[in-house]
Amino acid sequence: MDLPIYMDNHATTRVDPRVVKEMVPYFAETYGNAASRTHDFGWTAESAVEDARERVADLLGAVPKEIIFTSGATESSNLAIKGVAQANADRGRHIITQATEHHATLDSCEALRRQGFEITVLPVDSDGLIDLDQLSESCRDDTTLVTVMLANNEVGVVQPFDDIGAICRSRDIVFHTDAAQAIGKIPIDVETAHIDLLSLSGHKFHGPKGVGALYVRNRPRPRMIAQMDGGGHERGLRSGTMNVPGIVGLGSAARFAQDELATEATFLLDLRTNLHNQLRDGIDGLHLNGHIEKRLPGNLNVSFDAVDGEGLLMGLKEIALSSGSACTSASLEPSYVLRAMGRSKVLAQSSIRFGLGRFNTQEEVDYVVPRVAEEVTRLRHISSGTAA
Ligand SMILES: Cc1ncc(COP(=O)(O)O)c(C=O)c1O
Repeated sequence: MDLPIYMDNHATTRVDPRVVKEMVPYFAETYGNAASRTHDFGWTAESAVEDARERVADLLGAVPKEIIFTSGATESSNLAIKGVAQANADRGRHIITQATEHHATLDSCEALRRQGFEITVLPVDSDGLIDLDQLSESCRDDTTLVTVMLANNEVGVVQPFDDIGAICRSRDIVFHTDAAQAIGKIPIDVETAHIDLLSLSGHKFHGPKGVGALYVRNRPRPRMIAQMDGGGHERGLRSGTMNVPGIVGLGSAARFAQDELATEATFLLDLRTNLHNQLRDGIDGLHLNGHIEKRLPGNLNVSFDAVDGEGLLMGLKEIALSSGSACTSASLEPSYVLRAMGRSKVLAQSSIRFGLGRFNTQEEVDYVVPRVAEEVTRLRHISSGTAA
């Protein structure tokens, strides 16, 4: 087993070597612009982009023309949320979201609030789940968009997206979901879940960084305003020269994710269960954050009594873990996700997120558990003033 061990697969994932292999020719051999219509370089690039579009669509139960390529989930969510809100402002200016969303969603909503939109932020319970009755009650005649993430990036909690979709559909409200963490981890069918818009990102499921997609339902097609002006690429919704190698990588990652989803989910769930059980058996005062079952198979988020999470991470230098989302890990504020779930400031500050992925092994789990137990004991001795 090699050190360091990477267990931060919610921040990003290793690009699968099989994906890299499929991408490589598109840098220096097949390097045409997919929008060039007058020669073979362009046609070959365009055909690679269309193959990838089909693969991404297949993974979601969508059709290829419903896939818009972007630079990642942040851009997809900005386009979906601002694009729908602005295009439907004549119908209403009320949007519903929830408290544990990623900043790509929260800050897009905040930008709309500054433009005069009204935002309802639903709370979550102690398991991290929204209340469906409260969602129903919050829907109004002037509500044009509900944006609720599929799975949380810190605690892995999976929201009841089928029910949310049904509620939105019955009220003719557009439903957008940020599925950046869920894609390739749990089965998603945009038809059965009544999802109208879905954001995804390549680097969260063993594809490359800087490429993602927005699924945009074709029937009925939500009214949307593009957020990027230019050459009118991607059905006018996302101008800009296409990132052909990245898109090929995204398509390749989508295919492997689809082919291997069932076996990988079982593998990750077994690994996560072992990790959780072993940690619980070896460490007193361990608290699970997030619903035990309604969560991504590869996610474990725990807090420890009387331990500072940052100190713990510093003591575990050979293991790549995090205390929350990579975007906010530079801040010393306790996680807003855990705080929204009602965790005390102290417990929120002692949290550790384990993100298991395709390339982790049981051997790594067996190494990590005693190391975490050892560090927790050491830190508790220091804080209680006794020698370890
Ligand atoms: C839930 C969620 N949404 C959105 C994003 C942003 O994705 P990207 O890095 O592709 O912009 C992330 C990544 O951290 C995420 O975890």
